[in-house]
Amino acid sequence: MKVSIFKILGFVLSLFFYHCQASPHYKFVVKEVPYTRLCSTKNILTINGQYPGPTLYVHKGDTIVVDVYNRGNYNITIHWHGVKQPGNPWTDGPEYITQCPIAPGAKFRQKIILTTEEGTLWWHAHSQWLRATVYGAMIIYPKLGTSYPFAKPDAEIPILLGDWWIQDIVEVVDELLLSGGEGNYSNAFTINGQPGDLYPCSKQDTFRLKVERGLTYLLRIINSAVQDMLFFSIAGHNVTLVGSDASYLKPLERSFFVISPGQTFDVLLEANQSPNHYYMAAKSYTVAAQGVFDNTTTTAIVEYSGNYTPSSPPLFPYLPEFNDTYAAANFTGSFRSLADKEHPIDVPMEINTYLFHTLSMNTVPCPTNSCSGPNGNKFLASVNNISFVNPEIDILEAYYYCIPGVFGTWFPDFPPLFYNFTADDLPGYLELPTLGTEVKILEYNSTVELVFQGTNLFQGSDHPMHLHGFSFYVVGVGLGNFDNEIDPLKYNLVDPPLSNTIIVPSNGWLAIRFKADNPGVWYMHCHFDRHMLWGMDAVFIVKNGESPEAKMSLPPSDMPSCYKAVPITSKVANSLGPDICPIYVEKK
Ligand code: C2O
Ligand code: CU
Repeated sequence: MKVSIFKILGFVLSLFFYHCQASPHYKFVVKEVPYTRLCSTKNILTINGQYPGPTLYVHKGDTIVVDVYNRGNYNITIHWHGVKQPGNPWTDGPEYITQCPIAPGAKFRQKIILTTEEGTLWWHAHSQWLRATVYGAMIIYPKLGTSYPFAKPDAEIPILLGDWWIQDIVEVVDELLLSGGEGNYSNAFTINGQPGDLYPCSKQDTFRLKVERGLTYLLRIINSAVQDMLFFSIAGHNVTLVGSDASYLKPLERSFFVISPGQTFDVLLEANQSPNHYYMAAKSYTVAAQGVFDNTTTTAIVEYSGNYTPSSPPLFPYLPEFNDTYAAANFTGSFRSLADKEHPIDVPMEINTYLFHTLSMNTVPCPTNSCSGPNGNKFLASVNNISFVNPEIDILEAYYYCIPGVFGTWFPDFPPLFYNFTADDLPGYLELPTLGTEVKILEYNSTVELVFQGTNLFQGSDHPMHLHGFSFYVVGVGLGNFDNEIDPLKYNLVDPPLSNTIIVPSNGWLAIRFKADNPGVWYMHCHFDRHMLWGMDAVFIVKNGESPEAKMSLPPSDMPSCYKAVPITSKVANSLGPDICPIYVEKK
């Protein structure tokens, strides 16, 4: 009799724990803590005092809850980068797009709904440049009872690439805004928060990865740097890329690779060399013509176990020249999704919405040429020549509660002007963008092809474009101008990679396809925060579909609202917005 009571108790307890496991719950306390790097100490914003922030461990298909308490001195929002959040744009995070920031002292319970994502993603602050120190990894394991599409690695290690400013990051942004110029560059790159041996006062804390000969390690690599694409390599070892942006790839073996801000790579490292100390290293990849950028190199050490005399210093890997576009494009162009029975692809074949977006660097005049951009002008950036301006009420609320005058609905499908986008000498008048807060409305389930075209204004630049709410198939990429007759014939519709962030090559184009099956308000932007701040942003509103599952969820009760003037009751009365308001909300 006793035994069966214990059995029942055990069963109840296991249900309880199973439940806990199925719906993990985290507490994020935003707070300022002093950290010392490069011989000087400053207060930085952290989550729970940690830099980099805590790693979230979840399984495919989980829904998790994170309670964010803002005990810092700045407004902040948190974004779950690469999580599609079906029907739930409410807790996606970008400030003034889906919410107002969480004010100091306030709290926001964020729900994170995972579906098909499996591999590595991350989370980061999505207000100003606070993500410089507020970021962390999200590890998404296969569902219990299933496994990786490769032999189970012996160990898994998050490798977060980042950058560090000696100056306070809020000051960096303030100066940039005030001067109209590019602002200060970072002083160091970091691996798991540490600059490494090549920087002053850093050697004692260099990140060390202890390995054992014969074992295989899964490195979950995230580029969380604010501004820089990075070349990465490990001395003496090739690595094998098996996944990116929480989607598997056909294995790709390389001695080095390039990773853009926002991208995540799952990489296998076989410890198959003679026991020694080997550097892993990362440095900027940039086409910056003047060579003005952070040209330092961060390192960590791969340290074999056993008895041997290590080379001193450790062996250093080959990294390409900082502006080796060929090396970078060749790598990114080689991604292929698994596209097998267990990992089928569903790239849209019939397209009903064609979009063509030019990505440009721009300038606007300043009074008495007083800005520190080119010729005393102020830098901006644009998509289809519109430099995005943040609204005062977030777009999601304005849409949901039918608040007119917040955004316009005429984001154009094409640029206002077709010219030779990648020509050497573009006339100056092309540098002038229009300022605007415009969205593109997509019908539920529309099938979208979007071609990004980089322009050569200010010599152009690569742009790591990121879309919230979706993963997209990268069906084509090339240098020069997109040719809408020839280039589509070369699309990869068989095994294109599925991504959420992708490098549009400098003076080149890139084509993606996705199905707009996620109702809500979704941000799209360059993942260089400088370009994002300058306006290289766009917003999609995907309308509700017919069935209940095809509609946006209700807003959470503790939503940090921008819509304070209106009492909550009338908000509720209006809350059928997306279904009853026509999309009339034209900005005056
Ligand atoms: Cu990684 Cu809009 O963000
Ligand atoms: Cu950019």
